[in-house]
Amino acid sequence: MGWLTGVAVGVAALSIGGVVPAAHAAALRGLEAERMSASKGSVLRAAGASGGRALKLRPRGVARTVVRTHGPRAVALRARLRGCRRGSLLVSIDGGPARRVRPGLRWARHRVRALLPAGRHRIAIRFAAPRHRCRAHVDRIRFRRAGGSAPASAGPLRRVPLGTAVDLHDLRHDAAYEQALRKTYVSITPENEMKMDWLQPAEGRWNFAAADALVAYAQRNGLAVRGHALIFGEQTPPWVSRKWLFGDPARTMRTHIRTVMRRYAGRVRVWDVVNEAFDDYGGLKTNAWSRMLGPGYVELAFRYAREADPTAKLFYNEINAETDNRKRAATLRLVERLKAKGLIDGVGLQMHTALGWAPTREQLESTLREYERIGVEVEITEMDVMIGHLDAAESIDSRLLGQADVYRDAATACAAVAACTRFTVWGVADAYSWKGIEERPLLLDGALQPKPALTAVRQAIG
Ligand code: G3I
Repeated sequence: MGWLTGVAVGVAALSIGGVVPAAHAAALRGLEAERMSASKGSVLRAAGASGGRALKLRPRGVARTVVRTHGPRAVALRARLRGCRRGSLLVSIDGGPARRVRPGLRWARHRVRALLPAGRHRIAIRFAAPRHRCRAHVDRIRFRRAGGSAPASAGPLRRVPLGTAVDLHDLRHDAAYEQALRKTYVSITPENEMKMDWLQPAEGRWNFAAADALVAYAQRNGLAVRGHALIFGEQTPPWVSRKWLFGDPARTMRTHIRTVMRRYAGRVRVWDVVNEAFDDYGGLKTNAWSRMLGPGYVELAFRYAREADPTAKLFYNEINAETDNRKRAATLRLVERLKAKGLIDGVGLQMHTALGWAPTREQLESTLREYERIGVEVEITEMDVMIGHLDAAESIDSRLLGQADVYRDAATACAAVAACTRFTVWGVADAYSWKGIEERPLLLDGALQPKPALTAVRQAIG
């Protein structure tokens, strides 16, 4: 992106607040006394910083400056971290809500999600970090001439269906929940009602009532349904393990998959055939199925699923496989193998994340493109972004904006990759999250009202 030379005119006094021990005060005094001055090309550099010395912030340190712009300006910081890998620069303009910038260890430019109209503006940059020895270095604030309208008015990058996990009990007993569901989402995933421990709690004893009700509701309201999850180690009923001694475990698996898929054929068109087969090191988790059938149980499940409903799209669904790690590598190998045999159509990346602990847009987009390269679809299947774990120093408003950034990055990555065909969050609203309302992890708040995160997702995927 070219940086236009609009001139941010004005001389800014820079003052640094926050907890700075005497020893460091000396190191920073030069900056305290010095003035930020506009130089050619709208670059504000710490004037007088000898050798291009950058602004250095300790945790909770704040740098302030004032600028004057002559027209709409986009804002970007050039920053890096030292002494830790996680930390955020919270940039507030004219005292408004903070925008989060997450620098890495290398110098890089970071867009501040704000559009400055013409005029005089107070800019405050606060450093929030988990460890005392962290430092944030900032050496430039840049203002780029921006288009007339704020990015928010631009349409979505690509329309992608937005879905959510649902719970039948909440749907039946909470009218506001049901209304928010219909108003916000176009696809549902039964949170538990289609898992084996729910559908067949005892051999041959089928419990379809809840799943039937959810599928019927979806059909009445024109919602798609993701079937979740035919084979899931953590939610396999205990009676299955006994098949090892007295029976035929492959037949047990086949009967379950065939009975369920044929019941919903044509109404549930996408299934998580196997969920979370790998551990964090890329090895196969041990569960009832792997003990009885060996590692081949995964492929066997896909074979039975393909046989049961050839019209359905068969997915493998995984947690924490969104970045370049050993679990992702194992998942890619599995998918390539199944794809070569015509047994798989897509992969679900769950995206259970937290503020300060989430894939970047670039990391997620890179993983999405790996599946595009293999020739399968990929969906974000269970996204949530926890924000309750941070220290109280960061305001809720600031956390909600940071959460919106994480959702925006994920939705933007999905919109950028044609193979990404659906974006699902793991619950209708904060009060119904498996993580608890205190984590505020979803797109609607405790009163079922839209949060900045929903706006961010809509800007990316419509
Ligand atoms: O319905 C019973 C209720 O009758 C009983 O009184 C209560 C107390 O034990 O348990 C209720 O069942 C609980 C069920 O959620 C419904 O609330 C189960 O104990 C509880 O284990 C189950 O947790 C679900 C979890 O999967 C189980 O593994 C969560 O709601 C659900 O959000 C979570 O979803 C998983 C995805 O399927 C796969 N990806 C990870 C994701 C989060 O763990």
